[in-house]
Amino acid sequence: MPTLEASPDQRPLAGTAGLPRHVAIIMDGNGRWATARGLARTEGHRKGLDTVRRIVRHAGHIGLEVLTLYSFSSENWRRPPDEVTYLMGLLRFFIRRDLAELHANNVRIRVVGERDGLWPDIRALLEEAETLTAGNTGLALVIAFNYGARQEIVRAMRRIAEAVKAGAIDPSEIGEETIARHLDTAGIPDPDLVIRTSGEKRISNFLLWQSAYAEYVFPATCWPDFDEAEFDRAVAEYQARERRFGGVEARSAP
Ligand code: IPE
Ligand code: IPE
Ligand code: MG
Repeated sequence: MPTLEASPDQRPLAGTAGLPRHVAIIMDGNGRWATARGLARTEGHRKGLDTVRRIVRHAGHIGLEVLTLYSFSSENWRRPPDEVTYLMGLLRFFIRRDLAELHANNVRIRVVGERDGLWPDIRALLEEAETLTAGNTGLALVIAFNYGARQEIVRAMRRIAEAVKAGAIDPSEIGEETIARHLDTAGIPDPDLVIRTSGEKRISNFLLWQSAYAEYVFPATCWPDFDEAEFDRAVAEYQARERRFGGVEARSAP
């Protein structure tokens, strides 16, 4: 008689069953977190980096395939120069300090966003992170830095137009696949779940093309207080949703 309880080796790895392949996070609320505590906004960003470390580690542990973190938007240049400088410094600090550990943990880093116009040392660090980890097979950590979805689509359109001009693509061949291939995210599966912390419910120019059929979860928690349990709660909410992709019944991502 077969028992109802599966033996341990038949059970899926803890946490991996029904996991989204790709979770993308709009890390919001650092400034409000700090202001509410009478601190400078930059203190919120500093604390937010601790959350980045925790969530990246957690994503690796549960066997997530892709984690994208929205770290600096094309529009964030509108912030006071001191804050922009601080955010640039924080990215520099993160890569310098954490790259070796991420590499040791088999994390593959990809950076999406506009490279032109970034400070040369930041560009060099981003490239170093991508090159060093290119052969890794664990979690893909996608850092959206100086990223704006509309700007990304414009860049893709320009590349496609150049290819058409050069005779490499015929306009009649242009399809969704052509566009996807020319975006910064080429080769990365679309996000299944987009989380935006801090209670704001907007997209702010994040992965517009790629998130056409993503599920969205908006926890009220500000990013510096976000943790593994909150992440798991967002995933559980995702798992309870019925994705239909235009049909009438639940189905999995194409
Ligand atoms: C998110 O927190 C971090 C970045 C956008 C870089 P914010 O700095 O936007 O925090 P709030 O929205 O002002 O609270
Ligand atoms: C979006 O957050 C960008 C990042 C999280 C990097 P913002 O805080 O900049 O977005 P808005 O300005 O509130 O829409
Ligand atoms: Mg914000």
